[in-house]
Amino acid sequence: MKAIIPVAGVGTRLRPHTFSQPKVLLNVAGKPIIGHIMDKLIAAGIDEAIVIVGYLGNMVEDWLLKHYSIKFTFVHQPDLLGLAHAIWMCRQNIIENEPLFIILGDTIFDVDLESVLKSPFSTLGVKEVDDPRRFGVAVTDGKKILRLVEKPDTPVSNLAIVGLYFFRQSGSLFATIDHLIHNNIKTKGEYQLTDALQLMIEAGETFTTFAVSGWYDCGKPDTLLSTNKTLLEKNITTKEYPGCIIVDPVFIADNASIKNAIIGPNTTIGEGSRITDAIIRDSIIGSEARVVHIMLHHSIIGSSAIIAGNPHEISVGDYSEIQVG
Ligand code: UTP
Repeated sequence: MKAIIPVAGVGTRLRPHTFSQPKVLLNVAGKPIIGHIMDKLIAAGIDEAIVIVGYLGNMVEDWLLKHYSIKFTFVHQPDLLGLAHAIWMCRQNIIENEPLFIILGDTIFDVDLESVLKSPFSTLGVKEVDDPRRFGVAVTDGKKILRLVEKPDTPVSNLAIVGLYFFRQSGSLFATIDHLIHNNIKTKGEYQLTDALQLMIEAGETFTTFAVSGWYDCGKPDTLLSTNKTLLEKNITTKEYPGCIIVDPVFIADNASIKNAIIGPNTTIGEGSRITDAIIRDSIIGSEARVVHIMLHHSIIGSSAIIAGNPHEISVGDYSEIQVG
């Protein structure tokens, strides 16, 4: 089965890191966000990925082709006109009415995907949330979806739609997006997938929901760091470095150099990075970075950045150089 993965976005909320790297290539718990997604898709039997690329798309293409051998089709979305538009760009690559799985490129998930892909109906991934006001939610009758409500002021449902969509027959999805585009129906300036889904439900199409037990957002620095922590906790590997204290969970790339340091908990150290005389916790350090004589927490350090000195909370993009004190 094919999966569509839209990753064309600019990732503005993760600047400065996304100035030089696409969001989906940011390292979380030892591999890029999209690596976590691909591993789960392939394990569930997805054998072809249609990846919608745009901003820094060549980097995404190169990384995927280097690391995975399933069939990839890259579709370029030149203007970011919204998620529905991104999916519509793939219409030539879909055989009429074939089933389809769509997952947002910044959503790492834990779900029994094999069962989802066998669903007799189209079905949307949902997660119960305490405060639904920030999300699009699904109102159900216990079995099927009655309607979707974007960021509800009144508590109509706490089932947030989290970016995983399975379409049993994709034909009506493309026909509905076609309708949005030809009638210029936009919300907040974009062609929204939620608007297409709502029209499909109003037209009588059956949608059910499936529970996404683990949903790890990577869209903002805070959520990237908390996802890093959660994923590290799920896969604890112990490593020792002479003269260093390692507080699990951590991911330290095999070729990283760690000297006279306390690393962890909840810390990722990328490929080829060199850490000396440092204390680092709750942080992500990219590849080939150099971190010297510093105490860091709750920090994201880009690849090839050099950090020396003693600030305590910092967010620094690729190739930056900071020397304090
Ligand atoms: P987001 O709006 O959350 O991601 O879209 P973004 O645009 O990359 O991030 P910010 O808001 O600027 O910080 C969710 C997913 O949909 C893709 C994005 O790449 C992301 O993976 N997307 C969104 C597209 O591919 N095309 C679009 O037109 C819109």
